[in-house]
Amino acid sequence: MIQVAVLGYGTVGSGVVEVIEKNKQEINKKSGEALNIKYILDLRDFPGDPYEEKVVHDVEVILNDPEVKIICETMGGIKPAYDFTKRALCMGKSVCTSNKELVALHGPELIQVAHEHQCNYLFEASVGGGIPIIRPLNYSLTAERIDAITGILNGTTNYILTKMEREGADFEEVLREAQEKGYAERNPEADIEGYDACRKIAILSSLMCCRNVKYEDIYTEGIAKITPEDFVYAKSMGKTIKLLAQSKEVGGKMYAMVAPFLISIDHPLSMVNGVFNAVWVHGNMLGDSMYYGRGAGKLPTASAVVSDVVDCARHIGKVIMCFWDDEDVELTGIEEAERRFFVRVPAQKEMDALHVFERASVVEADVPGEFAFVTDQMAEKEFNEKAGQVGVISRIRIEE
Ligand code: HSE
Repeated sequence: MIQVAVLGYGTVGSGVVEVIEKNKQEINKKSGEALNIKYILDLRDFPGDPYEEKVVHDVEVILNDPEVKIICETMGGIKPAYDFTKRALCMGKSVCTSNKELVALHGPELIQVAHEHQCNYLFEASVGGGIPIIRPLNYSLTAERIDAITGILNGTTNYILTKMEREGADFEEVLREAQEKGYAERNPEADIEGYDACRKIAILSSLMCCRNVKYEDIYTEGIAKITPEDFVYAKSMGKTIKLLAQSKEVGGKMYAMVAPFLISIDHPLSMVNGVFNAVWVHGNMLGDSMYYGRGAGKLPTASAVVSDVVDCARHIGKVIMCFWDDEDVELTGIEEAERRFFVRVPAQKEMDALHVFERASVVEADVPGEFAFVTDQMAEKEFNEKAGQVGVISRIRIEE
């Protein structure tokens, strides 16, 4: 029997216990040995809960129990998760986590500590919830040179954008409704401003280039400025708007960013709606592949954590390879990235805009008092200079 402990009995932690209990037969068979939840760490008590007897309040009980071989860290945040994780790994206990903040900040260090102690630090649930994406990058696509990853990596913002598109509603209204329904957090800043997606693409980018992409270096822009009018224009262009997290290697230069983009309705990511997530990966041999599913929620995320538990159970005392060195990748600033931009200006600035942006293609839509157009392909830096000269209402980047 392999003893397991769960740190944090919140949404994901209680999901982990539920998945291990409900799918006991399949999981034990695939682990090669039966798994048993020995402890659940939480500050709270859970009177009446079927697992209340397993709840402990002191992490030392878990760390000092030599029987515990696998720990699920579902606490979130950096403190005290970092300390608990590192101490567990130093004692040879494998850790499986859904904690994207911690993986993005300390991933390479914790992987190395794990390997030095013949155990593993696995994080399938940290990106894309229940969608298998870490394992495909680590195991399945090892024959590829991956040069681009683009993802819809945040369910909250994708839900909001989908609703805005379908109902013509404005951002604040949909956000309020999402919060009332429990889809969006009371403090939705990390989702809305793109910080959550930024950490997730930092993790994927690091696995893409086998070195460390620091999330602090990734240009990040959220969706708070997107309006119903933007969707009116998008529709007239045969496009939609998605918050994309992307990293690309072009001519030896590595770019990474998170921002709302206009994408064609023929783009595979345009069909990813509501709380769903997807990750599109381009490899030099395989070409395109896409991974789609539930990017958040109790059971999908817990399922991914438990898949890591099974992997750890199969590799007790052995290291599972993960290619993520601590050498930092130097990202190229997005000012150099070339693309087309969709731009809205007040109607009276039409002539100025056409003068400054040569070869602009006009976008016709029924929005009074405005003139809208798509620029030629140009570097972000050049666009910003020109937009500054004209004085624009807004701009959205176009993903081709
Ligand atoms: N807040 C995140 C989302 C949860 O909306 O996608 C999953 O990481």
